[in-house]
Amino acid sequence: MTKDSRQSVLGSVSEPDEITSLDDIDWTFKGVNTQKYTHGLHKYPARMVPQIVDNLLSYYLDEGVIEEGDLIYDPFSGSGTTSVEARLHGLNAEANDINPFAVMLSEAKATPLERNDLSDSRDFILQNLSSDLRDVREEYESEGEVSSLELPEVRDGWFPQPQLYELSLLRNRIDEVEDEYGIEYARFWRIVLSHTTRKVSYQRNGEFKRYRLSEEDREEHNPDLESIFTKKLKENYNLMLEYSDVVDHSLETTIHYSDSRSATEDVGEDVADIVITSPPYGDHKTTVAYGQFSQDPALLTGKVTYDEMRNVDKNGLGGKNEIVEPLSDLEEYSPALKETLETLREKEGRSDDALNFFSDYYAVMEEVAKIAKPSQPVAWVVANRTMSRVNIPTHLITVELCEHLGYEFDVNLPREIPNKTMPLSNAPENVTGDTGELMSNENIVILRAPETN
Ligand SMILES: C[S@@+](CC[C@H](N)C(=O)[O-])C[C@H]1O[C@@H](n2cnc3c(N)ncnc32)[C@H](O)[C@@H]1O
Repeated sequence: MTKDSRQSVLGSVSEPDEITSLDDIDWTFKGVNTQKYTHGLHKYPARMVPQIVDNLLSYYLDEGVIEEGDLIYDPFSGSGTTSVEARLHGLNAEANDINPFAVMLSEAKATPLERNDLSDSRDFILQNLSSDLRDVREEYESEGEVSSLELPEVRDGWFPQPQLYELSLLRNRIDEVEDEYGIEYARFWRIVLSHTTRKVSYQRNGEFKRYRLSEEDREEHNPDLESIFTKKLKENYNLMLEYSDVVDHSLETTIHYSDSRSATEDVGEDVADIVITSPPYGDHKTTVAYGQFSQDPALLTGKVTYDEMRNVDKNGLGGKNEIVEPLSDLEEYSPALKETLETLREKEGRSDDALNFFSDYYAVMEEVAKIAKPSQPVAWVVANRTMSRVNIPTHLITVELCEHLGYEFDVNLPREIPNKTMPLSNAPENVTGDTGELMSNENIVILRAPETN
């Protein structure tokens, strides 16, 4: 990509030549298209706004802090926003996630595909699809099952049955794509299958936990799987073509299915020229349950097990899986954390949960300090949530804990969230229906990695 076309590839509100300082950018990005290129392939929860990564990379490329061919690292890949933007800016990318579905999604979004194989594999999937789906329905209606199709490992009662067989037929067909065209193509089509899975299941839309439709609504729920699947297939096909046309196919994207609290084991030390990430807001159970959200779509691909998916929310930061011992002196490193914990203790709030979360987060800061090259930029995009109705100043805590590790603070860029794809209120005590303020703004906290690791 040339320098001119590289500048703000997603069309930020600021003109490229105005950007002499990061403060010149309006980080709200109200009204911009966040679904361009492969960013629009799937609605993973709590995605980072791509324009944040876009503008940071354009700025640091312009300043000569990074250059094309460099490596960006993201310890919390999620849907792969950082990796997609990396390639759009001529960078290699490496990332971690403990959710196998996020790993698959990030790889699918960031890996460009060849035009011919993309359209051939699409035609392969669509060939006789209508009549084959009709046969499945007819057999189900007459026999009460479809003997040739093995059902996925999903829990009973979460899908209308004929559609579950239809999904299994799609899964088998995409498995055949893997044999014919390779894993990259199968993975790409599996994202369409995942979208379809969620739409046809009884899981309520617009929720990031796994809630079922009411019994009454379940009786009425008889979605047209073929139209849902083919509509999304066409949409994703076009998005992938647009992306594949503009990016460099020789760059590399590597997403590790592993815990970023021990990321150096996979990524190595002193390798990343820049880090841009958005960590989870808190433990998965009481904030965004990424594992629950992705469970059925992941299981339908047939590539992950039920137990793996159950572990995602336990292994998330603050999930008490005891990889990292909570540090008793952590609050001594950060006055803002100390004050927060004291307030939580006074109110008999969830101070242990907060300490657990920040201990885990600190472990990732330690790993990132080793992974990043000395003095290179590290951007944490964090939201300030409430816990037990106490505001948690995550941006201040991030700065103080990082400084304790030898990072040097550069700038904090506050931004309002105009239409964040997650609830602005949640159940702070994890009681369904009981809501409290969760977040309405974010901070982009930028530090320079420690001089010595
Ligand atoms: C806020 S999301 C990241 C969103 C991402 N920036 C995007 O645009 O889609 C946080 C991600 O961190 C992952 N995660 C949580 N704890 C983790 C850990 N210990 N190691 C690696 N990934 C983790 C979650 O599975 C989730 O996908």
